[in-house]
Amino acid sequence: MLTFIGLGLGADGISLQGLRAAQEADVVYAELYTSLLPGLVLAQLEKRIGKRVRVVSRRDVEEDPGEILDHARWKKVAFLVPGDPMIATTHVDLRLRAAKAGIGTKIVHAASIASAAAGLLGLQSYKFGPSATVPFPDNPSTRPYEVLAENLKHGWHTMLFLDLRDKERAMTAPEAIRLLLGLEERLRGGFFTPDLLLAVVARAGADDCLVRADQVERLQREDFGPPPHLLVAPGRLHFVEAEALQVFAGAPKEVLVWHMTRR
Ligand SMILES: C[S@@+](CC[C@H](N)C(=O)[O-])C[C@H]1O[C@@H](n2cnc3c(N)ncnc32)[C@H](O)[C@@H]1O
Repeated sequence: MLTFIGLGLGADGISLQGLRAAQEADVVYAELYTSLLPGLVLAQLEKRIGKRVRVVSRRDVEEDPGEILDHARWKKVAFLVPGDPMIATTHVDLRLRAAKAGIGTKIVHAASIASAAAGLLGLQSYKFGPSATVPFPDNPSTRPYEVLAENLKHGWHTMLFLDLRDKERAMTAPEAIRLLLGLEERLRGGFFTPDLLLAVVARAGADDCLVRADQVERLQREDFGPPPHLLVAPGRLHFVEAEALQVFAGAPKEVLVWHMTRR
């Protein structure tokens, strides 16, 4: 049995159900490459679970998951994943490989940045269009710009995840803004312009969580503290969403009025 267990958004984000499943497992793996968990200390997690946690790389999971699957064939294997295990990850691939090998699978859900960001900003979750990741410049892609453009045309909100290499190399919001302004300069679609209303969510779920909304040109100059960071480009706003962006994310009223007359 292979059980995917969400670690939620921080050191205490695992659910009671997830903790119990990990405690009852024979082998516990964790991947920590798809997201950053502010405040997570592996030794503390191991103590709580009561067994060693084997941290695996993207390669171990996506290219060579033989060891995980071999264990799961005969034993209870827990696979810990930041956030909710199947959100903005490719772990459905591992689940399918397990299913094809006749191995039972389960998912224990946890909080995800996808729902937390909408909640923190006061944006309605059903008004989000497709999301995308802003990659580091050595792996360039126009995809985030195209996704944003398409969503804005429909009036949908856009969630932009930021690329992550390891604990030491996680993209920050100002870095992502610079890259997106670079794409605007190249593609000239008039979507990611300096006057665009944008929101930044930093460290959702942590005590020092920060949310801000303002025009791109102003956010670009702000310091949001350590990652993880996320960008949200609001689409058409209901007046309650606009009020929430003003009250909870400090969006200036004139910026919201300007945004609402354009979208
Ligand atoms: C690929 S997604 C993985 C999402 C995860 N499976 C989940 O359900 O939360 C990881 C990206 O989401 C964003 N992110 C994740 N946790 C965050 C947090 N607590 N605060 C702000 N952004 C976060 C960052 O941009 C990070 O690089």
